[in-house]
Amino acid sequence: MEKLDEMTGPILGSSSEKYTHGHHASVVAAHAVRRASEAAAFVLPQLKSPMRVLDFGCGPGTITNDLAEYLLPDGSLVGIDSSDAVIEQARNAATEKNIANVEFEVNSIYETGYESSGFDAAYAHQVLQHLSEPVRALEEVKRVLKPGGICAVREVDWGASAIWPNDERLSKFFDVYSKVAERNGGDAFAGRRLKQWFTDAGFSDLVVTTSTWTFAEGSGLKWWGDQWADRILSSDLAKRAVEYGIATDSDLKDISQGWLDWVQAEGAFFSFIQVEVVGERA
Ligand SMILES: C[S@@+](CC[C@H](N)C(=O)[O-])C[C@H]1O[C@@H](n2cnc3c(N)ncnc32)[C@H](O)[C@@H]1O
Repeated sequence: MEKLDEMTGPILGSSSEKYTHGHHASVVAAHAVRRASEAAAFVLPQLKSPMRVLDFGCGPGTITNDLAEYLLPDGSLVGIDSSDAVIEQARNAATEKNIANVEFEVNSIYETGYESSGFDAAYAHQVLQHLSEPVRALEEVKRVLKPGGICAVREVDWGASAIWPNDERLSKFFDVYSKVAERNGGDAFAGRRLKQWFTDAGFSDLVVTTSTWTFAEGSGLKWWGDQWADRILSSDLAKRAVEYGIATDSDLKDISQGWLDWVQAEGAFFSFIQVEVVGERA
């Protein structure tokens, strides 16, 4: 069995917490298509020069590097992630694009070590759903924000998804995904809990919105199905599913074929909601 993409070094949540997807090339490639214009649209008007912004769980940094441009001329960003592999990728991308107002560091949002009140804003995209202690992470964000600073987070809710045509193999995919996420300490239905987590962490003046990701045609639909057909066989999701006894290799092959067939199916459709919360540190 290949070595799993364990997080070593940075401080984690409960000892059983594991990042569900890992950083297999199929996962990182899927994250690297994300852009701030979509993933941060709900907060972009509030992020401007000369703010100092923290992007926690920044992954390969495509969103972070976009945000850096929105903060010009005098704003700056720090992107942190517990994986050194993705931080290196993010740093290289910033260097290639000559983006000078961004820094990337391997660090954990549970305990960043940053001074209190050092940031004007914090942002995260699809991160808290993977943490066993999301409120503790938000409390650390609150600590590093200035009074009046904002925290903006977007999390999917896999329970608010719709797929057509019906296919038992894809129903199995949803079941496997949510069970592995839960066993890893996360929550595939995080979107619906995000407002509560902000409240529990002591943020005020919450603004809650939703948007959707929809794959219904052309290259977008094909990309969505193909990447899950790959990830369900080769990412840490697959390895953990087998390790935990949630699915067999044969189940995973069926699910993968289910996604490939979905790409070809007449009337293929997939959509789910993204929950977005912006809260203020009083
Ligand atoms: C689903 S990815 C999202 C990446 C990026 N925000 C995006 O939307 O493309 C979640 C990221 O959170 C990181 N992560 C998990 N636990 C973390 C922690 N305690 N502190 C910082 N990053 C963490 C993972 O390594 C992973 O890169």
